[in-house]
Amino acid sequence: PLPEAFRSRLPIPPVLEPVHRDGTTDYFEVTQKVGQAAILEGLKTEVWGYNGILPGPTIVSRSGRRTVVTHRNELPVPVSVHLHGGKTAPEHDGYPTDLILSASGAGGHSGHGGTGVVGSKEYVYEMDQPAATLWYHDHRMDFTGPQVYRGLAGFHLIHDDTEDSLSLPSGERDIPLMILDRAFAADGSFLYPSVDPTLTSTPGVTDGYMSGVLGDCILVNGAAWPVLEVSDAKYRLRILNASNARRYRLRLDGGPRFVQIGSDQGLLSAPVEHDAIDIAQAERFDVIVDFSGHDVGDQITMVNENGSGGTAQVMRFVVARREADTSVVPDRLADLENLSEDDVSVEREFVFARGGAQAHGTTLWTVNGQPFSPDTIVAHPELGATEKWTIRAQNVEHPFHIHLAPFQVIGRDGNDDPGRYNQGWKDTVNLDTGGRAELLIRFDGYRGRYVFHCHNLEHEDMMMMANFEVV
Ligand code: C2O
Ligand code: CU
Repeated sequence: PLPEAFRSRLPIPPVLEPVHRDGTTDYFEVTQKVGQAAILEGLKTEVWGYNGILPGPTIVSRSGRRTVVTHRNELPVPVSVHLHGGKTAPEHDGYPTDLILSASGAGGHSGHGGTGVVGSKEYVYEMDQPAATLWYHDHRMDFTGPQVYRGLAGFHLIHDDTEDSLSLPSGERDIPLMILDRAFAADGSFLYPSVDPTLTSTPGVTDGYMSGVLGDCILVNGAAWPVLEVSDAKYRLRILNASNARRYRLRLDGGPRFVQIGSDQGLLSAPVEHDAIDIAQAERFDVIVDFSGHDVGDQITMVNENGSGGTAQVMRFVVARREADTSVVPDRLADLENLSEDDVSVEREFVFARGGAQAHGTTLWTVNGQPFSPDTIVAHPELGATEKWTIRAQNVEHPFHIHLAPFQVIGRDGNDDPGRYNQGWKDTVNLDTGGRAELLIRFDGYRGRYVFHCHNLEHEDMMMMANFEVV
């Protein structure tokens, strides 16, 4: 029995305190372990979480200061941690076969996905990138879908001087919102249709879920259809779609418009207003919502226009008090470099479709007809180069995501513009069925092997991933 909507309070994930700081670096520790969440009335839900919670603790970094996160794995399976949107050295990027094996020795690696260290690993992030809303999540080869579904996802925020200078809403009025859908079994556990529920032998989902796993309950920061009491002031909402396979079209019913100030990779050059926001898996929209036109007692519901029944509702804001508000939304936000086609050295095209390979009795999802293999490298961009990639989506929608290298969208579906939702620097872009996107990608920071893939996590696990190597 699902809980009634708009009964529980919106949880705010705890901000992780560093265990140590020195002149250059902040050090954090996270333990991946089993925890219990109270999502349903009278039932506990087992979570595999960072510090045992969903969302995991929020990690906060300063641009230009190194962040080191030591992850200890007390789960019964191997894990790999990816900082999504991070400009990260390859050995710290959470490559799918670069594992942390269980500290208890449980799960082994069972022939699935390579090698790793036992127990814990230090991930080093230089944070040579601007203020942005990043997130960290599991990336284990073949098992990312079920492991993220059980709870392995958290926010990682970066702040910088540009952001500090803008007088945006901050403190209690700067709120991360992790939106995801889940289904529950009768005993309260998360219901994920794994072929092997121990996640140690055969990967994959049972028949009928090959297109992606959807749930009938919407969670925001781990609570079902929660409520947030707000004042009649401006709020900064950092919206992340951490769902495995669901896309949302968010709108504030009876409420203000969204004023977008940031995208996946940080601040835009200028705000963009939206009546509604289309958000695909892994995308982030950093928005200002101004409740100052509302009276105390007003209720504003965030709805999902792509959903029906329970999935058409997301959360509710209740205006509970008055508050003086000195925050502003400036007309100019950040100075962004605009990539140009004149800078392009190489053009490539990748088709995301079902077909080209079979395994586990089904037709796999592939990139250019090839299933993922750690040994196959499909592109060798040069360090510092800007390339133009055309991505095509077939059969269904596919959110394209690339590690390391941020991009700008210059064309979509035959139009010579990014579209309303793809301003600024991105690391994930949604592709509709039959859709096409032209991207200018800057390969900066590190040489080495990285992946790009579909961020529908079931498609990713079913091989819709490929390697590039920066040379
Ligand atoms: Cu959000 Cu390769 O992942
Ligand atoms: Cu896909």
